[in-house]
Amino acid sequence: MVNLSFFLLSALTLVHAASSPPWYPSPEAGTVVLDLRWKQALQKAQQVVANMTLPEKVNVTTGVGLEMGLCVGNTGAVDRLGIKSFCLQDGPLGIRHADKVTVFPAGIAMASTFSRDLVYRRGAAMGRENKRKGVDIHLGPVVGPLGRHAQAGRNWEGFSADCYLAGKLGAQSIMGTQSENVLAVVKHLVGNEQEHFRQFLEWKFIFNYTTLQAQVSSNIDDRTMNEAYLWPFADAVRANVGSVMCSYQQVNGTGSCENSALLNGKLKHEMGFQGFVMSDWYAQQSGALSALSGLDMSMPGQDVLGALFWGPTLTTMVLNGTVDEARLDDMVTRILTPLFYVKIDGRKPNFSSFTPNSEGPLYAGVPKIQFNQTNTTVNYHVDARDVSSQDIALESAQAAVILLKNDYGLLPILDLPSVSSINVFGIASQIGPNGPVCAEDMTCSDGALITGWGSGSVYPTEYQSPYEALRERAMENEVYVSGTTVSWNLDAVKGLAAEADINVIYVLADSGEGLGQEDGDRRNVSLWHNGDELIKTVASMNRNNIVVVTTVGPIDMEPWIDHVNVSAVVLTGPAGDFGGKAIASVIFGDYSPSGKLPFTIAKNITDYIPIVLDVPKDGKPQSNFSEGTLIDYKRFDHFNTTPRYEFGYGLSYSNFSFADLDLQVEESISEFLPSPALPLNASKPDNLHPPSISDARIPPGFKRIPSFVYPWVEGNVTRGPPFTVDTNSSRVSTASGGVGGNPMLWSNVATLTHSVNNQGPHGSSVVAQMYISFPQDFPTAPRQLRGFDRTPLMLVGETRQLHYNINWRDLAVWDPEIQSWRVQRGEYTVYVGRSSRDVLLTQTFVVK
Ligand SMILES: *[C@@H]1O[C@H](CO)[C@@H](O)[C@H](O)[C@H]1NC(C)=O
Ligand SMILES: *[C@@H]1O[C@H](CO)[C@@H](O)[C@H](O)[C@H]1NC(C)=O
Ligand SMILES: *[C@@H]1O[C@H](CO)[C@@H](O)[C@H](O)[C@H]1NC(C)=O
Ligand SMILES: *[C@@H]1O[C@H](CO)[C@@H](O)[C@H](O)[C@H]1NC(C)=O
Ligand SMILES: *[C@@H]1O[C@H](CO)[C@@H](O)[C@H](O)[C@H]1NC(C)=O
Ligand SMILES: *[C@@H]1O[C@H](CO)[C@@H](O)[C@H](O)[C@H]1NC(C)=O
Ligand SMILES: *[C@@H]1O[C@H](CO)[C@@H](O)[C@H](O)[C@H]1NC(C)=O
Ligand SMILES: *[C@@H]1O[C@H](CO)[C@@H](O)[C@H](O)[C@H]1NC(C)=O
Ligand SMILES: *[C@@H]1O[C@H](CO)[C@@H](O)[C@H](O)[C@H]1NC(C)=O
Ligand SMILES: *[C@@H]1O[C@H](CO)[C@@H](O)[C@H](O)[C@H]1NC(C)=O
Ligand SMILES: *[C@@H]1O[C@H](CO)[C@@H](O)[C@H](O)[C@H]1NC(C)=O
Ligand SMILES: *[C@@H]1O[C@H](CO)[C@@H](O)[C@H](O)[C@H]1NC(C)=O
Repeated sequence: MVNLSFFLLSALTLVHAASSPPWYPSPEAGTVVLDLRWKQALQKAQQVVANMTLPEKVNVTTGVGLEMGLCVGNTGAVDRLGIKSFCLQDGPLGIRHADKVTVFPAGIAMASTFSRDLVYRRGAAMGRENKRKGVDIHLGPVVGPLGRHAQAGRNWEGFSADCYLAGKLGAQSIMGTQSENVLAVVKHLVGNEQEHFRQFLEWKFIFNYTTLQAQVSSNIDDRTMNEAYLWPFADAVRANVGSVMCSYQQVNGTGSCENSALLNGKLKHEMGFQGFVMSDWYAQQSGALSALSGLDMSMPGQDVLGALFWGPTLTTMVLNGTVDEARLDDMVTRILTPLFYVKIDGRKPNFSSFTPNSEGPLYAGVPKIQFNQTNTTVNYHVDARDVSSQDIALESAQAAVILLKNDYGLLPILDLPSVSSINVFGIASQIGPNGPVCAEDMTCSDGALITGWGSGSVYPTEYQSPYEALRERAMENEVYVSGTTVSWNLDAVKGLAAEADINVIYVLADSGEGLGQEDGDRRNVSLWHNGDELIKTVASMNRNNIVVVTTVGPIDMEPWIDHVNVSAVVLTGPAGDFGGKAIASVIFGDYSPSGKLPFTIAKNITDYIPIVLDVPKDGKPQSNFSEGTLIDYKRFDHFNTTPRYEFGYGLSYSNFSFADLDLQVEESISEFLPSPALPLNASKPDNLHPPSISDARIPPGFKRIPSFVYPWVEGNVTRGPPFTVDTNSSRVSTASGGVGGNPMLWSNVATLTHSVNNQGPHGSSVVAQMYISFPQDFPTAPRQLRGFDRTPLMLVGETRQLHYNINWRDLAVWDPEIQSWRVQRGEYTVYVGRSSRDVLLTQTFVVK
């Protein structure tokens, strides 16, 4: 007897379980207008694909298995056609698991520079270093997490909680990296806003949330998805990014990597993305469903329990009719096109991600008992750094420093008449007891904060501590520096705190990917290592104290920020190899700070949006993005909450005047997008090798390496029905029609300029920001960032023009009714200023 109640129950759950709507079939590459270089790459890819056998195609789509090559991801090769195994390597701020590479400032530090130029040059420098190490595909930049939660573990990898800033900087990073023949991967699509419950097995069995039944779902409404979380991905697509990585968690109850609404509908149709979607490591959860939903590459190749969604299973699925060969052809075309576009060459990795030793195994992932391999040279210790990458890392770290407080003109020290001694405090001032590479993936924080932890970390090779950097700089001016890292026995620091002319207290807050201490996300927004008490104790003993905060995100400053003896506060994100040196140059005044906060610092932790920390009764955590687009400063502005320091805030050693606002607006700005051009016919060369079972068999005599993922099938294959999805569920969106979406989205509708004058007393770069408020037929945040510019004014008295282009998209809202963008009629106000709240110039205009 069948248990009916069981069936009834599952049927009910199915009806009620929220899920993303279907969107099939998956759009093919090549149906929108392409630039010439991309078009040529596409034609070349199509020709190669036409010449491939079924298992050769599958080889390109599937990783060969975790640790089955030298990089964190390695694809199968097709030697016959000159397609090598591609090397995929983390991460967004340099090259993970390698030596003799530069640790560049993290994304959040780059965001505080507000500099397109520095982000481009850093992207290009990372490209060059990747090339020297033999990496083809760089797993960066990050524009998701965006930063919905102040405490989210990986916010520091990305460029800030503002989608406009993240989009513009992400695009520069991509263009920089790809200019050096290395493919960029923008990640993680989308809503990957917390580490808690991001993956099911990891959180259930490693972190022991025994009642967990599924990974967290980010439930994001239509407007918010388009106007906030997908926004920077559109900039990335427009910048010709080669690949997009889908994320671990679910979107609206459907896994991101099998979410057809997201991958087929939004990314490939609406945004016109022409490259390939790769899974985050083990984020893939299905075979046929993910293939039809728009996934193009499976990483690392098998799932966490060793099962194969693709590889031989994909070969079988094409042979037995489950998956149409055309979808596989499109996957391979989408993978090869951007690689040809960036002019990938024959480079091979000359380092191993799995041992720091020179000698090691080629296939670190095979247990010894299964396969006896002899060690070979895997690490050639090639020095990938050069003078220019070091310069860019230093210049970026300097531009990233944010001056938050400077009472009584304590800074810069060079301006003070007589300073002869500085005492330094805090664990963050020194290298920790285990050295600069404190642990695997930097999962530790017992010294200066160089990067956050996890796959987005990079190992420093030569690192000068903040203390050493300050001491070296101070010696030039015959200033004596001494210090201590004692942080708990506060009686022991009191004497030292009283004796110097100035104290510098280095404090930190760290976080990372959910694979180590603290479960990734921060448990609080407080300083680590007793930082608050240390600051208060030192400040009670001396009138002149400088607090230097290195942090992955907002921190609580309330315990000490108003302390009369805390005269100066500087803050920076994890700034890589040259973080300490950058701070020293700012403290002394060799470099005037120009950095601006890329997030809001609240007075009260309850002003931030909390992470979902509890597993509900049904075991399926839901993260409802019910605040819509109102995150970070938009939220504070909307609720009229006073922050401690607002988004965009940051002081300088100089004063600037802003004037001569000039706003030119197009006579008529269209309310709606024009209908997109009809899709182009993607004519392709004929397939030379239709799928055949004989091609799909392992060649006689081939010696398998155990655990390695090969594309060949065993046994017999019988044809059956295709995997059924609703192939009539695609809808043409007027937002579509080009790479990055309907070309009109990117057309310029207004231009704004103004002058800025350096009134002294220092030479300094200056960052200006432009915000716009919209008519409120569709309620939006009071002000949204829609422009920023940074310019050097190295001479006192110097004046320059700053310039902002406003695109049609910058004035648009997403209208769920028409499923597209529209520009509201009515009054808009433009604000130009030093921060999101410090407005100096303003003007209104009306769109009729
Ligand atoms: C997610 O669900 C919301 C609310 O039902 C809907 O507006 C939105 O379009 C959905 N998005 C995706 C990608 O499923
Ligand atoms: C697939 O890739 C692996 C590893 O590069 C290689 O050994 C194998 O021959 C390839 N198979 C085909 C069909 O090209
Ligand atoms: C297919 O590949 C083979 C081997 O590289 C080559 O000789 C042949 O010309 C290719 N055919 C086409 C039509 O490209
Ligand atoms: C990697 O190092 C090896 C050994 O020094 C060298 O032969 C090779 O050219 C290097 N690879 C790249 C991409 O520079
Ligand atoms: C989870 O439970 C296992 C088995 O009891 C234990 O070995 C492990 O240390 C626990 N992990 C954590 C993070 O508590
Ligand atoms: C092979 O290399 C690994 C990594 O360097 C090392 O741990 C191991 O001891 C080596 N094995 C032999 C037999 O040398
Ligand atoms: C905040 O978290 C850090 C890191 O776990 C911890 O060291 C510190 O004691 C916590 N602070 C507060 C105020 O809870
Ligand atoms: C500030 O420092 C002076 C000098 O050491 C000290 O007398 C005073 O108490 C301090 N102020 C506070 C609020 O701790
Ligand atoms: C923070 O906000 C909460 C809720 O509004 C309030 O109860 C609490 O007193 C506030 N804490 C501080 C330190 O202001
Ligand atoms: C999320 O939204 C759903 C649907 O509105 C609701 O049933 C659920 O209780 C919400 N969950 C949380 C944690 O707020
Ligand atoms: C596969 O098919 C062949 C030929 O029809 C048959 O002889 C063989 O028994 C089949 N093998 C299996 C495992 O079914
Ligand atoms: C085709 O192959 C897939 C993967 O092995 C399998 O799940 C599916 O049931 C097969 N279909 C038929 C009709 O054999």
